[in-house]
Formats: sequence, structure tokens, C-alpha cells
Amino acid sequence: MIKATCHFPRGFLWGTATSSHQVEGYNRGNDWWAWEQESGRIFQNQRSGKACEWWSGRWREDFDRAAEAGQNAHRLSLEWSRIEPNPALWDDDALAYYREIIRGALERGLEPMVTLHHFSTPQWIQDKGGWRNPEIVRHFRRYTRKVVKDLGDLVSLWVTINEPNTFLYFGYLQGDWPPGDHSIRRLPEVITNIVNAHVAAYEAIHVVSPDNRVGLAHHYRGFRPTNPRNPLDRWVARMKHQAFNNLYPQVFHTGWTKFSSFRLHLPQAAQKQDFFGLNYYTTELCSFNPLKPKQIFEAGAFAKDADLSPQGFIANEPTGLWDALRWAIRYNTPVYITENGTEDSGDDFRRRYLALHLHKVWRAVNYSWPVRGYFHWSLIDNFEWERGWSQKFGLWEMDVETQNRSKRKSADFYAEICRLNGLSSETVASYAPDVLDLLFPPREPAELTVDG
Ligand code: FCB
Repeated sequence: MIKATCHFPRGFLWGTATSSHQVEGYNRGNDWWAWEQESGRIFQNQRSGKACEWWSGRWREDFDRAAEAGQNAHRLSLEWSRIEPNPALWDDDALAYYREIIRGALERGLEPMVTLHHFSTPQWIQDKGGWRNPEIVRHFRRYTRKVVKDLGDLVSLWVTINEPNTFLYFGYLQGDWPPGDHSIRRLPEVITNIVNAHVAAYEAIHVVSPDNRVGLAHHYRGFRPTNPRNPLDRWVARMKHQAFNNLYPQVFHTGWTKFSSFRLHLPQAAQKQDFFGLNYYTTELCSFNPLKPKQIFEAGAFAKDADLSPQGFIANEPTGLWDALRWAIRYNTPVYITENGTEDSGDDFRRRYLALHLHKVWRAVNYSWPVRGYFHWSLIDNFEWERGWSQKFGLWEMDVETQNRSKRKSADFYAEICRLNGLSSETVASYAPDVLDLLFPPREPAELTVDG
């Protein structure tokens, strides 16, 4: 076996990512909580319930795990409905507790990256029209100001909004997430409000802490034509890429964007990202079916020979991460991979996936692309939105009932990578032997003969 190590730059951030509603428990004041109470919304009518009991203190033991496993960063989110349970009424205890959590991360050597909005919105805002009502911009600005005033001295990396594209797609077009809208005609107003909310938060943070770095976490999904020779398949792939991937990054770069036949000109949004947060999971194939044109908006299929996660939710497509990084650096800011991971209760697939994807990240840093950190989704199994508890994304397995945590092999694999600040052939040989030859190709026998 060849002995080699793929080294990462000094100061590279190695962490995991979580979000408030998925781990805290009993977030009764947000729209997801209300949604979960309705029958048929969540897989087997499951509920977030006590989640991973972070609000009752288990973040401590989970942060211990992360730190002991060599991680030096953690991406977490704040629950707006806890901080502002009623309009302009602040819960100072909640803010103090977030202070303790963020301090707890710092004390353990975990640099916090803090997200202000990760899918869940206070129900009182939803009752006033949520993201369809332009008032949300004012509310988001006020919330951000308060948070930065109280917590800003502890945080220097902020994500304003997680995956505005996923959030828009599921909540306002496809309707499987709250508020369950389907109106394509109203999308431009929702997009405008999301964009303006980011701009308001971006400015609010910079007024208080000019040196802080502010971005969004963009979800990039790879779209490839099923038949690259078919111009219609190529067209569908391009269209999905524009609508899903390009929509927001474009507006935060240039101040304009387009979606289907809509054109949005929002010059106030131009150059409003200090870094590019990139969430990448997988790549799908796109086909054009003239009999079912509406399918264009539905999820495509995975390649027939794809290596699939146990539930078939994710195809192991590391080249998609490479494409995503190449695409993200065009926006001329440092890039953080703010999420990447897979569901896998068995944990074999995850190890292959991790090795292959991190190898692409390593290639990117070797091209001197400004990739500054990687946050694996996720630290522990948590509540996966409409998929409930059915998907296991954690480096640590968690039993929801007993709250017992147990370490998966991937946690040790990732720990070796974090400690080494690199991916070595020995580590890959021990944890992901099936992809060893791919990442560290053995020398050709002919070469050996010449040498020897
Ligand atoms: C991302 C979400 C995150 C988690 C992962 C699996 O789209 O940002 O909360 O659900 O998917």
C-alpha cells in the first residue's frame, strides 16, 4: 500500500453542524412544532419532542464528544422563537443560555459558526403571513440586532439563513413543509423578502461588529442530464441548476436574478456575502418527459449504477462536490462547506462517502481554492424534518427514547482526519478500505520493475 497523506492548510476548520429545532427539544413556539401536530405531515406522524435534549443540557456532553474527537469548530443555530417568543418581547434567559452554549463551545476549542434561521420560524410571524409578508424583514433585522448585541462578542462567523432554496422549494412551492404553500406566482415576493431579510441582517451585524463575517448556507444539488446527448435533458438540467442553485447566489453577487419567467432586480443585495456557505449532499439525473412536464420540478432519479445510501436518499457523487466548489469560488469569497453528510444507520456507506468527498475538498485546497472549513452533517442523529427520526445522519447514533449515544466508526474516522488535519492512506485503509485504491492508487507493477 502506498503511504501518503493529503494535508489540509493550517487553521482549516473541522466541525459538525446541527440546528436548533433538530436537536434542542420542545421548541413549541415555532411553525415546525405546529406542523408536526398535524396528522400526515411527518413520517409516521413522528414529532421532534425532546429531540436530542440540548435545551435541557445535553449539548455539553455532545460538545465534549466533538472536542475529544479532534474537531475545532461547530455550526449551530439559534431558535428565533425562543429568543423572541412574542413580538419584540425578548426572553433574556434564553439568550443567556445561548451565551452559555456558545461559551461552552469556545471553552472546548470549538469555533462557533452561528445560524440565525435554520428552517424554523416563530409561529407568531407565520400567523402574520410569514415569509410572504414584507414585515418579516423588519422583524428579522430587530431579532438580529438583539442577538448580535447579546452574543456578538463570542461569535465571528454568522450564517443568516440556511438553504433559502430548499426552504423556498418545500415550504412555498412543493408544500411539504410549513406553511405548505403551492403558489408559483407568489414566489417572487417570498424570494424578495428572504433576500431583503439577509441584507438587513448582514447590515445589522456589520454595524455592531464590522469584523464579523456573514454569509448564507446555500444548498447545491448536482443536476446532470440523464442522456447528455439529448438537448431536452440538458435543458432540464440547466433549468434546475438555475432555479435551485443559482437563484440566490446570483442575487447576492450581482443584485439581480431570474427564476422561470421572473426577473428580480434587487441591487441592495449585491456583494452581501463575506463568505460562501456551501451545503452539498448529492447529484441527480434530469430527464425531460413531454407527457409529464410538471415533473421538471420533481426530484430526478439517481444514476443506475450509483452507490446509494441505505434509504436511497443520497447517491455517493463526490464529483458533484467538486463541481459545487468550482461553482462556489466564482463568487470570489472564502468558502466553508457548511454541511455534507449522509443518512446511514449501518455506517459503511458513510465512511466511503466521507473519504471520497474529503478527497475532493483536499483537491480543491490544493488548487489554492479558498476553502476554509468543513462541517459534517451531523454530530448526532437528530430530527430530520418531514422524514422524522427515520434518517440517521449522526457520527454518533442516538436512541430517541433513552437518549443513549453510541459512537459510530465514522466518528473515529473523522476524528483521525481532524487530528491529522489530513486524510492519510492508513486511515482510509482502516476505515474505508473499499475506496483506498481509488484515492491512493497502487503503483503499477511495471513501475516497480523499472525501479527495482
Ligand atoms: C439539509 C438541512 C439540514 C439537514 C440535512 C440532512 O438540507 O439543512 O437541516 O436536514 O439536510
